[in-house]
Amino acid sequence: MRSFLADAATLHSLTGALGSPLHVVVPDQIAENVERFRSVYRAHHLAGQVFYAHKANRSSALLRRLAATDAGVDVASLEELQHALGAGFSPDRIMATGPKNPEFLWLAARAGVTVGVDGTAELDQLATLVSKYGLGRVRVLPRLSGFETTGVRVLSRRSRFGTPVREAELLLEAVERHGDAVDATGVAFHVDTMSVAEKAVALEGCLAVLEACRSRGLRPRAVDVGGGFGVSYLAEREQWETYTSELTAAVMGRRPPLTWGGHGYGLREESGTLRGSLGLYPAFRSVAGAAYLDELLAQPAPSLGGRPLAALLLEHLYDLYTEPGRALLDQCGLTLAKVLEVRTQGTDGALLVRLAAKADDIALEDHGVLMDPVLIPRSGAAADGDGPVAVHLFGSLCLETDLITRRTVFLPRRPAPGDLLAFANTAGYAMDFHATRAQQQPAARKVAAWQDGDAWRWCLDDQFWPITPSGGAQ
Ligand SMILES: Cc1ncc(COP(=O)(O)O)c(C=O)c1O
Repeated sequence: MRSFLADAATLHSLTGALGSPLHVVVPDQIAENVERFRSVYRAHHLAGQVFYAHKANRSSALLRRLAATDAGVDVASLEELQHALGAGFSPDRIMATGPKNPEFLWLAARAGVTVGVDGTAELDQLATLVSKYGLGRVRVLPRLSGFETTGVRVLSRRSRFGTPVREAELLLEAVERHGDAVDATGVAFHVDTMSVAEKAVALEGCLAVLEACRSRGLRPRAVDVGGGFGVSYLAEREQWETYTSELTAAVMGRRPPLTWGGHGYGLREESGTLRGSLGLYPAFRSVAGAAYLDELLAQPAPSLGGRPLAALLLEHLYDLYTEPGRALLDQCGLTLAKVLEVRTQGTDGALLVRLAAKADDIALEDHGVLMDPVLIPRSGAAADGDGPVAVHLFGSLCLETDLITRRTVFLPRRPAPGDLLAFANTAGYAMDFHATRAQQQPAARKVAAWQDGDAWRWCLDDQFWPITPSGGAQ
């Protein structure tokens, strides 16, 4: 990414030809990220599969590059399933999860992909499809939720997905009842949390349910721990700590505001006291991605003799399935936006900078991820100046709230129309998950880029295949 950003002439000619905003993905990076997860599997002597959670980015290039590795894909809609089949994933490398409409369930069953089932109703629906359309037995992974510790403290939060673990017996009865239509190859969970302890409780709970499966004569072989391994968006812990303490000081009125309109990201001041809590993604995470998986696997299972979870999986020869979305997309893409207008307003000195992009095109803010963009000067202009200069970044919609970020952003110099701002690490959820065509403005285009010796090459995202000359895997 750093070397790509250094090639200012290419970035300007790309946005000149294809418009602003423009998303750039780097397919080779996703293959490298898969390898990092694989190395954790190897370190714990575990077999299984890494299923990329496709929902995090619509890119064809990333998906096709992944198809050229040995990874799998987790699809959460009919369209994502069609996309995965069309990218070259064979059904044994596809997992269908999430809420499903009948067409999605039918194609999943027809193609023979593994289906993560939410509960007995979905099992019944699947069994009906299998018998009505004369389909083969479908591999299923029932999804569990609502895990509890044996002590008083309940660690797991409520989820609208999956079957509460205390109703697991009913679920297993349904699996047995539909034994001619479905083959329960294991169980799954996805807990929307950053807490390793909470995930460890869920994994331990799944191990107990797998035992219950075996005592019923079922032959489960895998446990799916879902996604949520996270990304560290900042290299330095200190930057994050400084920012959050300065933001707190600003909310308390002890320094000038650091946000548009004094927004506190969940913090507020009430009669001299700090209230609320910071609703932000921790931009610096000391343990994220593959390292987070490693830490999870090393957690002890108190109800199973305190042994590490990895040892317990290995002992039962269970396959480990993971579904990383954000973590597999770490450093896989960035978004470029052109500066249209720069003006001074009010007395706080902060400049208003309008970009040729909507906030929904660069949805870092939606995910609470705070990252300063990199200034790419228009041709001939200098990158640095006598900065830093405080600016507020606005989008192109006729809407007060179309702020790319509510933060005051500091750039090395006053930007000017024609400069580009590059938002780093946007591939995970920030590129297209929230994209709209509001005000008839087109959705951003996407290109795939790869390194060819010292040069960067690119093509439109949907033109990329792993055999594209010099494009990724050969
Ligand atoms: C079932 C399931 N698996 C995997 C993921 C991916 O999560 P992340 O991108 O945080 O890794 C999600 C996210 O919503 C999910 O719902």
